[in-house]
Amino acid sequence: MSDPTQEKWDRIYSQTREQAVPAMAVVRDNLHLVPEAGAGLELACGLAANSFALAEAGLEMDAWDISPVAVEQINRRAADSGLPVRGEARDVVSRPPASGRYDVVVVSHFLDRSIIPAIQDCLKPGGLVFYQTFTQTRVSEGGPTNLDFRLADNELLQLFKGFKVLVYREEGRQGDTTQGFRNEALLVAQKPAV
Ligand SMILES: C[S@@+](CC[C@H](N)C(=O)[O-])C[C@H]1O[C@@H](n2cnc3c(N)ncnc32)[C@H](O)[C@@H]1O
Repeated sequence: MSDPTQEKWDRIYSQTREQAVPAMAVVRDNLHLVPEAGAGLELACGLAANSFALAEAGLEMDAWDISPVAVEQINRRAADSGLPVRGEARDVVSRPPASGRYDVVVVSHFLDRSIIPAIQDCLKPGGLVFYQTFTQTRVSEGGPTNLDFRLADNELLQLFKGFKVLVYREEGRQGDTTQGFRNEALLVAQKPAV
């Protein structure tokens, strides 16, 4: 059965053969927080740039996206590089991850609030979430136009209430808006150890 979301992203990834996209700031700037080994999961991963960075840092990564076209590119890159990244074509909303499996979960540029409880639940105690996505408060165009797909002010903090905040960045429209980290929020937070 055809899924319009999958078709849209398959079309995009059919035209995108660029595998060297950099990891997002939330991962790139905070690799020192990642455990030396463990299991990681990237949801709605696109071409899985974050997963490849985390695999280079020592994690074994599952990388899930609804687009089989993206997943094919991920698995080819994993085979070519020898890095432990396993791409899987999977709707992460209808088939969220199982409980207590991962040391690290990463999500970037994707927001479906209904899966936040599953993200929290799939982490082991002490596990880390790395999340970065667009905010409703912004200084320039780019990202989703539908505000439902953008975070309200401080929303990541609310969504992961109960987790220990290790890194949070959201600059809104404060100060010199030609500089800084704008249009997005990022969070690295730790699930409480039981
Ligand atoms: C804006 S892209 C972001 C990709 C990647 N996370 C990044 O930051 O570059 C959104 C991604 O979400 C994926 N996606 C959308 N709905 C999804 C769903 N229900 N399950 C899994 N992936 C989904 C799309 O295929 C696309 O790769």
